[in-house]
Amino acid sequence: MIKKFLDRWLKAGKDKNNPDQLLKELDHERLPHHIAIIMDGNGRWAQRRGMPRVYGHREGVESLREIVKTCNELKIPVLTVYAFSTENWKRPKDEVDALMNLLVEYVYKEIDDLDQNKVQIRAIGRIHKLPEACRRAVSYARERTADNDGLIFNLALNYGGRSELVDVVRAIAKKVADGEITTEEIDEQLLSAHLYTAGLPDPDLLIRPSGDFRISNFLLWQLAYTEFWHSNVMWPDFSKADLLQAIYDYQNRERRFGGLKTK
Ligand code: IPE
Ligand code: IPE
Ligand code: MG
Repeated sequence: MIKKFLDRWLKAGKDKNNPDQLLKELDHERLPHHIAIIMDGNGRWAQRRGMPRVYGHREGVESLREIVKTCNELKIPVLTVYAFSTENWKRPKDEVDALMNLLVEYVYKEIDDLDQNKVQIRAIGRIHKLPEACRRAVSYARERTADNDGLIFNLALNYGGRSELVDVVRAIAKKVADGEITTEEIDEQLLSAHLYTAGLPDPDLLIRPSGDFRISNFLLWQLAYTEFWHSNVMWPDFSKADLLQAIYDYQNRERRFGGLKTK
C-alpha cells in the first residue's frame, strides 16, 4: 500500500518534469558516455506562433546553450548535436544563410563561457565546404578550446552519415593504393578509426525531439546500438528536464547488444 503510494508520488514528480527530482533519481555512476541530439522542430515551433522559421532557429540556440551547460555539469564526456545536414542545403537560400550566420554568432558569443567551463569544441562534417566565415569561426573555436578537458562538444555541420562513410572509404582506399595497408587489414576497428568521430565512444543515447521517428542521415555507423529516445517537444522548448528525463529513461532500459538478458 505504502509502496504503491510512493510509486505514484514519484511518478507524479517525474511527470511534472521536475529537474531537481530527476537529478536526484539519476545514477551518476552510469551516465551515458556520449549523447547525440537531432535538434529538430525549430521551423514548426516558429510557424505555430505565426513567426518566420528563422525565429525558431534563434530560440533553438537558447535550448542548445542550456543542454551544453547541463551535459558539462553532469560530466557527460561527449555531446554531439546535429546542427546542419548535407541535405539542408536544399532549403531556401535565406534560411541557409540565416543558419550559417547564427552559427558564427553563436560561436563568438558563447566561446568565452564555454572555454571558461573547459568545454572542448569540435566539428564534424564537410567543414571545408562551409562558407568562409563559418570555417573561420569553427577553427577559432576548435583551436582555442583544444586543450580543455571538460565536455567534448561536437557540432555536426554540413554533416551526413553517408558522406562521412564515403570519406572513410576514400581515405582507406588511398592507404591501400599507397601500400600503407592491405585489404585484409580492413575491419570494423579500422573503419571506426577513420570516422569524423575517431577516438570517441559511439553514442549511448540518441535524442530526437519534434515528433519525427527517423535518423535523417545522422551518425549511421555510430548509432548501431544506440538507445533511441523520442519526444514530441519541439527543440526550442526542449529543457534541462527533458534531457534528464531522457537520461533517466536510458538508465532504465536493458541493453543487450545482440546478446541475452543479464541476470
Ligand atoms: C532543425 O529544425 C534545425 C535544422 C534542420 C537546421 P528544422 O528547421 O528542421 O525545423 P522543422 O523540423 O522544420 O520544424
Ligand atoms: C535533421 O533534421 C537535421 C538537423 C536537425 C540539422 P531535418 O529537419 O533536416 O530532417 P528531416 O528532413 O525531417 O528528415
Ligand atoms: Mg526538421
